[in-house]
Amino acid sequence: MAVLDMRDVSLTYHPAEGPVPAVRHVNLSVDAGEVVGVAGESGCGKSTLISTVLRLYPKSATVDGEVLVDGENVFDMKWNRMRAVRWGEAAVVFQGALHSLNPIQRIGKQLVEPILVHEKGATEASAMKKVRELLDQVGLPTRHVNAYPHQLSGGQKQRIMIALALTCDPKVLLCDEPTTALDVMVQAQILDLLKGIARERAMGMLIISHDLSVLSSNCDRIAIMYAGQVVEQGPALDLFQNPAHPYTRALMGAFPTIGDGESRYAPTGLPGDPPFPGDLPSGCSFHPRCPMATDECRTVDVVLEPIAPGRDAACIHVNQGVGAP
Ligand SMILES: Nc1ncnc2c1ncn2[C@@H]1O[C@H](COP(=O)(O)OP(=O)(O)OP(=O)(O)O)[C@@H](O)[C@H]1O
Ligand SMILES: [Mg+2]
Repeated sequence: MAVLDMRDVSLTYHPAEGPVPAVRHVNLSVDAGEVVGVAGESGCGKSTLISTVLRLYPKSATVDGEVLVDGENVFDMKWNRMRAVRWGEAAVVFQGALHSLNPIQRIGKQLVEPILVHEKGATEASAMKKVRELLDQVGLPTRHVNAYPHQLSGGQKQRIMIALALTCDPKVLLCDEPTTALDVMVQAQILDLLKGIARERAMGMLIISHDLSVLSSNCDRIAIMYAGQVVEQGPALDLFQNPAHPYTRALMGAFPTIGDGESRYAPTGLPGDPPFPGDLPSGCSFHPRCPMATDECRTVDVVLEPIAPGRDAACIHVNQGVGAP
C-alpha cells in the first residue's frame, strides 16, 4: 500500500515578477518499505515537490492535485491535523539541515523535544530512552546524547538529523539532498543506513538528489525531474542500465563511471542550463538542449506514458519507439 501517493500534483509560486510553475502534474507514489529516488538538476523543483507533502510552501503559492499521506489528502486537512501529520505521519530531513542543529544545546535535549511535544503520555525518561534507541539505530553511540553539535563530524550530524526525523515514527520519510555535503564514503554509508531503516520499519522513503549515481544503487525506483515535471521513472537498476529519456541519458553522462571501461555513457556534461520555470520553452521543456529534438518537439506538449512494464517516459521519440529500452 502506498504511504505517499502524489496525484497530478502542481505548485505555482506567485512572486511579484509573475507566476513560477515549479512543479507540474507530478504523479509519484511510495510504498511502505520502498525507497524512491528523485533526481534532477538544480532548480527542477525537487525541494518544491517535498514542500507539497507537508504544505511547507508560502501562503501565496497555489497547488493542485492530491497528496495522499497514508490515504489522507494533505491539501484537505485542517491545520491541527496537518500539524499532527508533520513528524507523526511524514517527516523531512531538510536540504542543508545538518547546519541547523542548535549549537548550544546537547543532542539528547534536541531529540527529546519533538517526542515530548507530539507523543501522548511521553515523559522525559521515556523520551530519553527512545532517543538512545534511535541513536543506536542510526549507528551512533548512545553517549552522544551528551554531545554538542560542534563535537560531531558532518556524517555524524547527518545521522542525528535522520534520528530527529524518526523521533515520532513517521510512515514516510522525505530526505532532501541528505548526502550532498558529505564525502563519498560517508554518502554511501548514509544511503545504506536510510535504506536499512526503510526496510526495518516498513517506512516509505523519498530521497532527493541532483546526483543520479548516488541514488542508483540504493533506491528501488527512480524518478527523473526536469523543469518541474517527472520526465522518466522506473525501477532503479533498469532505468540506470537502460535510460530512455534523452535527459536521463545526459544526466548519467554527466557522471564518470570509474573502472567501467564499457560505459555507454562517457562523461559528456550537458550544454546549457535548465529553463527558469517562470519562462518555459514551448512544447517539450527539454527540447532546446536535446540532441534528439525535432520540429515536433517545439510544439507538442509531452506527457509521461508507459514505455515498458513499470517504466514511463515523457518524450515523443521514446514513445514512438526510438531509444526505448
Ligand atoms: N518561494 C519561492 N518563490 C518563488 N520561486 C521559488 C520559491 N522557491 C523556489 N522557487 C523557484 O522554484 C524553482 C524550483 O526550486 P526548488 O528549490 O524546488 O529546486 P530544486 O530542484 O530543489 O533545486 P536544488 O537542487 O538547487 O535544491 C526554482 O526556479 C526556484 O527559483
Ligand atoms: Mg532543493
